[in-house]
Amino acid sequence: MELATTLTSQTVQNVVREVGINPDYWYAVGWANELKPGKIMPVEIWQQKIAVYREANGQLHALEDFCPHKGIPLHKGKVHGCNLACAYHGWEFDGNGKCVSVPYLPETQKLPRAQTRSYPVQEKYDLLWVFPGDPDVAATKQPPEIKEFGSPNWLMVPVPACIKAHFSICNDNSMDVFHGFLHEKLQGWFDPVLLSLGETEATVSAEYQVSYKGQMAKFLGLSDRADSVTTLPVTTEYRYPNFYSSLQGISTLYLMRLPVGPTETRSIAYFFFKVRLPKWILRPLKPLLQTLLQRFVLLKFLAQDIEMVESEQRNYMANPNRRYVEINPAIFAIQRLIVRQYEQFMQKSSQSRFQRNQESEKSISKSCAANHDEFNQAKPIG
Ligand code: FES
Ligand SMILES: [Fe+2]
Repeated sequence: MELATTLTSQTVQNVVREVGINPDYWYAVGWANELKPGKIMPVEIWQQKIAVYREANGQLHALEDFCPHKGIPLHKGKVHGCNLACAYHGWEFDGNGKCVSVPYLPETQKLPRAQTRSYPVQEKYDLLWVFPGDPDVAATKQPPEIKEFGSPNWLMVPVPACIKAHFSICNDNSMDVFHGFLHEKLQGWFDPVLLSLGETEATVSAEYQVSYKGQMAKFLGLSDRADSVTTLPVTTEYRYPNFYSSLQGISTLYLMRLPVGPTETRSIAYFFFKVRLPKWILRPLKPLLQTLLQRFVLLKFLAQDIEMVESEQRNYMANPNRRYVEINPAIFAIQRLIVRQYEQFMQKSSQSRFQRNQESEKSISKSCAANHDEFNQAKPIG
């Protein structure tokens, strides 16, 4: 659906700062190469603590980071073959979270019925992805497609971040191209104009026009000369729960968001820059260019954003009832989407709770009826 691009003042509904996530999506939780075979990585997705582990053969598993025996975090344990052994008493859990061994249990005795939750997990684009929602839905969804990944025509620069703020505040920042003002000293963009805005069930896409000038713009290939102004269209798209942005074939950004909890968000960004050098020159220069771009350009921009976003969060927490004024319709659209996704999930979970209750009520009344019959048929002894 096309939306109006007029900048008109509205009050921000603070509910967006309080909502949780829709867990029925794949979330990027860390770098795949940081989880070596036989090792465990603790991760957290919206207050769900998860232990991701890798068997010696590379196979991945993800279990709730909680031993059903005494609640010890399973990431403190060890990988035993395809199982995860808890650090305390050595109970072992398979990839489905089922207790399959208690080292001190006599062979003649039955294993305890102990189960921890397991999560769908996969490795893609050098990242680990976990699906924290309904496992039946996992196969119907996929991590975002990153078409530039691995292409020799693009230079990829990864940038991780940890931000002490609610994910909606972070997302406002990414969607709001009007904040170029903040990056003035770094020769960021200027004169932004919102050209078009669209909304679907799970996406908001905005096309802006921005201008660049200066040495930085020339270095990044945004303009041919440092002293002239170049005006370009930039597309920004929120595809719940991640971001995509593209600057007319010159650079693209995939921003994978990981909401850790109400005041902490992590992200992994993949920036891609169009390579204008011959490949044989680029290959040896690649690591150096990646480091330079990361350290002297992207992390500097990011530090400015983080300072703003974290102070916004602090001031919000100091007075959550205070009202804020916004004029960018792209921000209202993205906030609506975040709230809608959360409400959809809440509605789905209350429906399934209702169904479960009905089923258990049915089975209780069935077993009551059976008990009643049994009681009536029972013969007194003697
Ligand atoms: S607490 Fe995990 S095995 Fe006892
Ligand atoms: Fe920024």
